[in-house]
Amino acid sequence: MKIGNIDLGNRPVLLAPMEDVTDIGFRLLCRQMGAAMVWSEFVSSDALVRMVNKSLLKLQICPEERPVAIQIYGKDVEAMREAARIVVDQAHPDVLDINFGCPVKKVAGKGAGAGMLQNVPGMLDITKAVVEAVPDTPVTVKTRLAWDEKHLILPDGTPFIVDLAERLQDCGIKALTIHGRTRAQMYTGEADWTNIGLVKANPRMTIPIIGNGDITSAEEARQAFERYGVDAVMIGRATFGRPWIFHEIAHPDQPLSLDEKVDILKRQVEISIQTLSNKSPLKGNLENLELCGIRHVRRHLAATPLFKGIPNYRETRIAMLRAEKKEEVFALIERTREMLKESLKANQPA
Ligand SMILES: Cc1cc2nc3c(=O)[nH]c(=O)nc-3n(C[C@H](O)[C@H](O)[C@H](O)COP(=O)(O)O)c2cc1C
Repeated sequence: MKIGNIDLGNRPVLLAPMEDVTDIGFRLLCRQMGAAMVWSEFVSSDALVRMVNKSLLKLQICPEERPVAIQIYGKDVEAMREAARIVVDQAHPDVLDINFGCPVKKVAGKGAGAGMLQNVPGMLDITKAVVEAVPDTPVTVKTRLAWDEKHLILPDGTPFIVDLAERLQDCGIKALTIHGRTRAQMYTGEADWTNIGLVKANPRMTIPIIGNGDITSAEEARQAFERYGVDAVMIGRATFGRPWIFHEIAHPDQPLSLDEKVDILKRQVEISIQTLSNKSPLKGNLENLELCGIRHVRRHLAATPLFKGIPNYRETRIAMLRAEKKEEVFALIERTREMLKESLKANQPA
């Protein structure tokens, strides 16, 4: 499957854009684990145009993580056009992605992100303007099925997303990602892949369709490709504390050992400390830089399925999630490794 000239191979599995999660360090780790391509967290076009430092820092890319998409959002055509140019000039991403799917109130409530699903002419104007603004960079869109359930089907019986996908394709985008939920659903219920499959089955569609929503295993990824015919699958939440999911999907016959997974989590802590150091507002104070990286990686340590179900683990877990020094975190991860091995041994038949 190709986005523009970027060849992502057969059945690629991609890292979804996630605010405050898919920063440069996590993207790099997921690429090392086998993600075919990675997406940045969304960046506000208004903030880019105002040259807000915090947003400009989100444009940092390292060569080893390519191919990478930088995602922008906004509802104003001129700001989006200008932001697209800034992103391409400063970061040279492989792909520029537009967010028309964010459901949160502070974004969609103001008409940006998924809010654009209520203003299709405006969405198309933005898409055309961005495609024109960066002619040498492939532009892609990520969106949802519709604003809410009432708008899932058009009066003539066509699914809203099938019609929208054609119009977005006509604006010149090079791939479309569809999260199989409406805005009203936020993250509740189950993703509906049927409508994603209908977009893919539309003979008028020529661009790749990337399916997204609730993929948590190699088997689910396989089914998404086979049942719905999508060109690629994008994974978000299932990567929390489990960046090796990309390896699991690409190489189901080569399972990683417990030790390898624990080592990957330690590498994640290390990468988080190293890469957040550049972004930190506390720049200059080494101790604080370490703390920033540790705080950032805590959500992954808390979510990792690897540490679930260990007997008598509560105290160690709390200590690990409170630790403020790398040495402390590492020591507690090592203690967890031992506890994990003990519990596995105890569960083995004699
Ligand atoms: C913490 C978090 C932050 C997110 N931030 C973004 C974002 O910046 N841009 C975007 O397009 N989607 C964002 N999403 C949505 C995901 O990209 C994805 O569409 C959604 O989580 C469904 O996929 P999943 O079931 O694999 O998690 C975010 C989701 C989460 C959980």
